[in-house]
Amino acid sequence: MCGIVAYTGHQPAHQVLVEGLKRLEYRGYDSSGVAILDGSEPYVAKAVGKVAALEEQVWKAAPAGVVGIAHTRWATHGKPTEANAHPHADCTGRIFLVHNGIIENYLVLKKRLIAAGHTFRSETDTEVLSHLVESHYQGDLEAAVRLALLEVQGTYGIAVLHRHHPRQIVVARRGSPIVLGVGPDESLAASDASALAHHTDQVVYLEDNEVACLEPGRFSIRTLDNRAVERGPTLLEGGAEAMDRGRFPHYMLKEIFEQPEAVENALRGRINHAEGVPKLGGLESVRERLEQARNLIIVSCGTSYYAGLFGRYAFETLTDLVVETELASEFRYRKLNIRRNTVVLAISQSGETADTLAALREAKRKGALVLGLVNVVGSTIARESHAGVYSHAGIEVGVASTKSFTSQLTILVLMALLLGRSRDLSYEQGDQLLRGLERIPDQMREILAHSERLRELARQYCGVEHFLYIGRKYQYPIALEGALKLKEIAYIHAEAYAAGEMKHGPIALIDPDFPTIALAPNDSSYEKIVSNIQEIRARDGKVIGVTTAGNSRLAQHVDDLIEVPANHDLLMPLLTVVPLQLFAYYCAVERGCDVDKPRNLAKSVTVE
Ligand code: G6P
Repeated sequence: MCGIVAYTGHQPAHQVLVEGLKRLEYRGYDSSGVAILDGSEPYVAKAVGKVAALEEQVWKAAPAGVVGIAHTRWATHGKPTEANAHPHADCTGRIFLVHNGIIENYLVLKKRLIAAGHTFRSETDTEVLSHLVESHYQGDLEAAVRLALLEVQGTYGIAVLHRHHPRQIVVARRGSPIVLGVGPDESLAASDASALAHHTDQVVYLEDNEVACLEPGRFSIRTLDNRAVERGPTLLEGGAEAMDRGRFPHYMLKEIFEQPEAVENALRGRINHAEGVPKLGGLESVRERLEQARNLIIVSCGTSYYAGLFGRYAFETLTDLVVETELASEFRYRKLNIRRNTVVLAISQSGETADTLAALREAKRKGALVLGLVNVVGSTIARESHAGVYSHAGIEVGVASTKSFTSQLTILVLMALLLGRSRDLSYEQGDQLLRGLERIPDQMREILAHSERLRELARQYCGVEHFLYIGRKYQYPIALEGALKLKEIAYIHAEAYAAGEMKHGPIALIDPDFPTIALAPNDSSYEKIVSNIQEIRARDGKVIGVTTAGNSRLAQHVDDLIEVPANHDLLMPLLTVVPLQLFAYYCAVERGCDVDKPRNLAKSVTVE
């Protein structure tokens, strides 16, 4: 969603800012803008559509300034127009501000500011902030920002500059991330560390209700209530490298191929064969409460939600916990039975998804032990959970999540194993699964080595407008995830069903133009899914079957067959999902879709 980049240093700010915005493009947006302090007159440019349109304007003008702020906007209040694009100025044209998040009391504030004589030029909630800062400004920009924010309800990550403070940028956050980057004679800020990775590996994560003042090579942080905060920089791991596509035409394909290493990273240092148990250091501090836990509620959104659905099967198989999975956006509407022995597990790649964060806070309020399974180190969900586990998948740029998903599945198995082994799961069962997990990276490599087969299938099927995905038990969440991938990037309507539900509706849709992908590894539900496949074929439906290598029996029942190596039933989802990701990717490429920037979607959804 919206992205922020801010720079104060010695390089031409327009270069740093536009480059930073391009690195944030993957997050999804519909307009962009920049403000640069260039001598006495600030330079401001805005454009609707891609950052390339803004870039063209900015490069032609080549402003000389070395201080500026920039933004990509994903419209919430008001259409994606130049007038609504950020930065927004105050009445005097001295203050410029960019904002991520939503100002909930903007109408009340706007009315008051208009009554006091302020003139508004956009339909956005953001513009009230520029005028509010103006109304508090008495020569100290940081103080004005702090005082303005004390009046604000809602969420924000902001960056502000003022013509009379030509070296300074003030940033602040509440509920919308801001990370600072500090170099020898330059300072940066952004809503996402990936925009800073090419400048510095020294970053500082701002916390909620903090305001930072940046000058070249230095920064200071204060709380909204004006207490000084001491916080040193932390190292940003693997940043710049992850932002290069290397030999791959798209980040998504690169990330699909990175999955073997991502799973290796998720497992690294976490396996103890001697005791048949995983080592998850991040859960040590809450070990006792975990041992006493009776029920588990998993909350998440999108792909992370499907990982959660898989997690439900994993925890139910390996532990005696009563497990529920809930969409984070629905969590608030449920009357869930949360007690002290309830564990709520929030799963999020970004660690910033607004609904997941809101669910986490609600669960905390109700006294649950809240755990996070998060990829982005230092993100809000990671910081606000009582304890948790990082998935260590590395920066994921592709909007359609791939390597994060398989890393999440890996960690969920480890977490379920840890809890299972402290209950009645035997050493043998534990160790068998750990050994199975260790085989996954090489088995994924085997699947990826045959990616050409998926490209051929995509060529064959990419003209189809509707697809059905079916699976049972552990494969049901994978059917959902496979269908989501196809919708997200190839814009093909795809529905996923638990195969047992076929006869309760979807079978009515089956005809020769409505193909099905059936997940049918050689597991305990194999015979049942073969019956479902036969029912589809009896109605002239085409079927692509995904099964375990060597299971030639399925060939007679399907039109096309994809094989994946054999592993423990519970671990097969880590393998069956890979061909589905590749299939969606190649369908999108064949259909000429913008794979890394799918329409209307954002990498990280930071509004509810
Ligand atoms: C967005 C992304 C999805 C992601 C979902 C949840 O919709 O496009 O890829 O699965 O948010 O994000 P999270 O960061 O919480 O896993």
